[in-house]
Amino acid sequence: MNETSPQPILGIDIGGSGIKGAPVDIVSGQLVADRYRIPTPEKGRPGDVVDVVAQIVRHFEWQGPVGIGFPAAVLNGVVKTAANIHKSWIDTDAKALFSAATNCPVAVLNDADAAGLAEMRFGAGAKRSGVVFIITIGTGLGTALFVDGKLVPNTELGHLEIRGKDAEQRASDAVRKAKELSWQKWAQRLNEYLSTLERLFWPSLFILGGGVSKKSEKFLPYLNLSTEVVIARLGNEAGIVGAALVAGALSQ
Ligand code: BGC
Repeated sequence: MNETSPQPILGIDIGGSGIKGAPVDIVSGQLVADRYRIPTPEKGRPGDVVDVVAQIVRHFEWQGPVGIGFPAAVLNGVVKTAANIHKSWIDTDAKALFSAATNCPVAVLNDADAAGLAEMRFGAGAKRSGVVFIITIGTGLGTALFVDGKLVPNTELGHLEIRGKDAEQRASDAVRKAKELSWQKWAQRLNEYLSTLERLFWPSLFILGGGVSKKSEKFLPYLNLSTEVVIARLGNEAGIVGAALVAGALSQ
């Protein structure tokens, strides 16, 4: 059969420090143009974030479907939580806002879920069954849970309580930087977090992603877990690729 490749899909990843987008070939998982990044507006208010997303869409002169990974629980396009974004996002219909501002069909999902979908299709989780976690470590701690390749969406396990604190407040990369923790000290916190997940879910694999995964040699040696741990293969592009994958389903 001589099937033609589907049109690329624009993937956008809204993060704590940057909002990044690129068109993605959803068959190969490759970006088909350079990533375009704009710093996340301070405070992350809805209007400002929507403006940046619209700028990215204009930058690529985009007209087709757009997938957007968003750093919160998202149910049917509506934002339900706001740990690292402005509180006024809660109960905002992000899908409606983004599609009105871009004039494009839009799919919105949790950012870690987006990264997880990409890793499971094209990266470190490909062909892996059982219970698999993708943990994105950045401004927040994002989690995506897969059971035999199927996503259980919006798990929000970065907010498990550890030592009386939100896990994200102890073990995110932002906390490592803000508190100037040594890699060893921070790795101990990450290890405590992962071993809590281990004890509660008995996963067969942890995939660690987010910006800090580029420096894995600094902290992997300090982790001591019984679960296999690997580093995300798509690195920081996973969120863009996964968001595009989900939006790709809009055009079928
Ligand atoms: C949010 C999650 C998000 C994670 C990574 C957390 O604070 O609650 O929804 O996936 O940060 O951005």
